[in-house]
Amino acid sequence: MKIMIITSSPNKEGLTESCGEAAKEGVKEGNGEFLMVRLNDKTILNCNACDQGWGTCLQENQCQLEDDFDDIHKAMGTVDGYVVITPVYWGDMSESAKAFFDRLRRCESSFDPSNINDIQNKPFICVAAAGGSGNGTLSCLSNMERLFLHLNKMNYKNITNFDYIGITQRNKSYMLDAILASAKKMILGD
Ligand SMILES: Cc1cc2nc3c(=O)[nH]c(=O)nc-3n(C[C@H](O)[C@H](O)[C@H](O)COP(=O)(O)O)c2cc1C
Repeated sequence: MKIMIITSSPNKEGLTESCGEAAKEGVKEGNGEFLMVRLNDKTILNCNACDQGWGTCLQENQCQLEDDFDDIHKAMGTVDGYVVITPVYWGDMSESAKAFFDRLRRCESSFDPSNINDIQNKPFICVAAAGGSGNGTLSCLSNMERLFLHLNKMNYKNITNFDYIGITQRNKSYMLDAILASAKKMILGD
C-alpha cells in the first residue's frame, strides 16, 4: 500500500512537518510505501474560476492552469490513501492547502461516471496542526471533512474517512504518536 502524505506549511521545521514525519514513520512501521508532497515547495496558482465559473475542470477533469498542480493530481491516482496535514490558520487550512484543494475538488466534481478517476473511495487522514490555544482546530477539520465529502461527491456511503486528528503545540508530545498509529493502522487495517 502506498500513501501520499501532503503537508502545507511554509515552516520547514514546524509542527506540520513533525506531523508529516510521524505519518511517514507510521507508514514505514506498517511496511507501506510513502510519497511526500510539500505543497509550499510547489508552484500552485489560485483557481481562476475560468470562463463563466467552470473551465476544463468540469468537462475534462483537469485544470488548464500550467504549474505543478497537474503532476500532483495525477500522482494522487497512483496511491492507495492520503494523509493531509495543514497548519491551522484563522481556524482554516493554510493558503497553500486551500489553493491546491480548491482546484482539486473542481477537477473531481464531474458526475459523469466515465470521468471518475482513482482518487475517490480511498482512505484519508486529515490532520489540523494548531498553535497553543488550539482555537480553530475544529473548524479547520470541519472544512477538511467538507472537502473530502466533495471529493467523494457528497456520497456519505462511499466516504472513506479514516481519521480526523487535531494536534496543538501543547498536546504534540502524545498526538504525534496518535498520527503515527493512525497512519500505521490505515496500512494494516483491523
Ligand atoms: C496566519 C496564522 C494564523 C493562525 N491561526 C491560528 C488559529 O486560528 N488557531 C490556532 O490555534 N493557531 C493558529 N496559528 C498558529 C499555528 O497554527 C501554529 O503555529 C502551527 O504550529 C503552525 O504550523 P507550523 O508549526 O507548521 O508552522 C496561526 C498561525 C498563523 C501564522
